[in-house]
Amino acid sequence: MTKHKFTARDGTSVVFREPKPSDAKLLMDFINPFVAEPMSGLTINKRVRLKEEKAWLRGWLADIKNRKGVMLLVEADGRIKGNCTVSRLVWKSSHMADAGIALSKDVRGRGIGEALMKETIELARKRMRGLEMIQLKAFDYNERALELYKKLGFVVVGRIPRANKEGKDYYDDVLMVKHL
Ligand SMILES: CC(C)(COP(=O)(O)OP(=O)(O)OC[C@H]1O[C@@H](n2cnc3c(N)ncnc32)[C@H](O)[C@@H]1OP(=O)(O)O)[C@@H](O)C(=O)NCCC(=O)NCCS
Repeated sequence: MTKHKFTARDGTSVVFREPKPSDAKLLMDFINPFVAEPMSGLTINKRVRLKEEKAWLRGWLADIKNRKGVMLLVEADGRIKGNCTVSRLVWKSSHMADAGIALSKDVRGRGIGEALMKETIELARKRMRGLEMIQLKAFDYNERALELYKKLGFVVVGRIPRANKEGKDYYDDVLMVKHL
C-alpha cells in the first residue's frame, strides 16, 4: 500500500496514498464541488450521492486488487484534495489504459498534479503487467492539463469536435497517448 508525504514547491504538505473502503464520503465531498465549477476540466455535471460513490469505490478497490487499475489520492487536513487513476482497457485493448486526474482548486498550480501523475503512472508500470500505452483526453480549453500531459510525454493524436456541452457551449476533446 503506497502512502507517503509530499511537500509541494510552495511548502504545502500533503499525503499521497491509495484508497481504502472507508474513503467513500471523503471522495464524494472531493468530487461534488467540480459540478458547480464553470469549465472545471471534468465531465461530471451532476452531484453524486453516497450510495453511488460507495459502489464506484467498491468497483475500484476490486480493480486495484485484480491489477486492472491503480489510484492515488492526495490527502490534506483530513480531506481528499486530488485523485489520479490509471485503468486498464479490455480484450484487444488490454495493453492500454485510460488515465484521469483532478485536484481541488485550493491545491492547484504548485506542482502537486505533476508529481501525482508521475507517481501514479510509475505505480501502473509496476503493478499492471503488459501495459504498453496510456490514453487520456482533455477539453480543448484546458491549457493547464494539456501542458501537464505534454510535459509528462503524452502526444496529441486526435480531436473529437464538440464532444462536450456545457450549457449552450460545445468544447472539443483532445486525445493524447503516452507509450510506456
Ligand atoms: C490539470 C491539473 C491536474 C494540473 O495539476 P496542477 O497541480 O495544477 O499542475 P502543476 O502545478 O503540477 O503543473 C504542472 C505543469 O502543468 C502546466 N501548468 C500548470 N499550471 C498551468 C497554467 N495555469 N497554465 C498553463 N500550464 C500550466 C505547466 O507545464 C506546469 O509545469 P511548470 O510548473 O513546470 O510550469 C489540475 O490543475 C486540475 O486538477 N485541474 C482541474 C481538473 C482538471 O482539469 N483535470 C484534468 C482533466 S483532463
